[in-house]
Amino acid sequence: MDNTSSGRAPAVYDHIGTGYRHIRVPDPRLHALIGGALAGARTVVNVGAGTGSYEPEGAEVTAVDPSQVMLDQHPGARDRKVKASAEELPFPDGSFDAAMAVMTLHHWPEQRRGLAELRRVARRQAVFTWDPDHLPRLWLLDEYLPEILELERARFAPLTEVAEALGAHTVLPFEIPHDFTDGFQTAYWRRPESFLDPAVRRANSTFARLPDSVVEPAIARLRADLDSGAWHRRHAGLLGRETVDYGYRLLVAGE
Ligand SMILES: C[S@@+](CC[C@H](N)C(=O)[O-])C[C@H]1O[C@@H](n2cnc3c(N)ncnc32)[C@H](O)[C@@H]1O
Repeated sequence: MDNTSSGRAPAVYDHIGTGYRHIRVPDPRLHALIGGALAGARTVVNVGAGTGSYEPEGAEVTAVDPSQVMLDQHPGARDRKVKASAEELPFPDGSFDAAMAVMTLHHWPEQRRGLAELRRVARRQAVFTWDPDHLPRLWLLDEYLPEILELERARFAPLTEVAEALGAHTVLPFEIPHDFTDGFQTAYWRRPESFLDPAVRRANSTFARLPDSVVEPAIARLRADLDSGAWHRRHAGLLGRETVDYGYRLLVAGE
């Protein structure tokens, strides 16, 4: 389950990270789910912390990220921000009540090693990720950019492998609301026009990895389908839905 396409992840975030917090606004419903899994933890290490989304209020949080651009945007105190990778956490065994990792696992070059590190440094773990085998998939992947699916399959390990490596005792589904505020790709399943905005695409590491020669013709096709009404005719069933299960899961392990 090592990641064949993430060797330059910190470099990607040093590049795309600057507009991140305007588009990737933490969603209160996901915050509540993660908060429930971390309840009672007084000390928490947030691995792949980025700008600090979903950290529990009231806990003492240590933020870890290999990207300086992301750490600079994290609101925590300087002495609670650590530039490091999940695969080599610079803390003694059992240093924290809990470790959290949200939408970051797919960036780790050695996921199994990183998950073992979460288990070593903390008594409880909460990992939020996406199951690449889950159906349905976002229409964008099947109809416009199959290249995304190829990239995602190289980055996201099957959920069963992640659950086994983490020793997860609980797997909680999170259905994506139609007005989800955290602008990762699937957030816009009912707002297709959002993908026309270059700022939305820039805040997404998958788009950032694809060349313009692939993305631009696909986005032009989407624009034409929105203008002609073809997209709306094809997806009439989605327009009346409030949430869809696209395979996002919170895995919980430990005490
Ligand atoms: C999509 S962002 C998620 C940030 C935050 N957890 C959130 O939910 O908004 C992914 C983060 O993982 C970080 N990252 C990349 N490689 C990593 C590694 N090997 N270990 C830990 N974090 C890594 C990136 O720098 C980036 O900040």
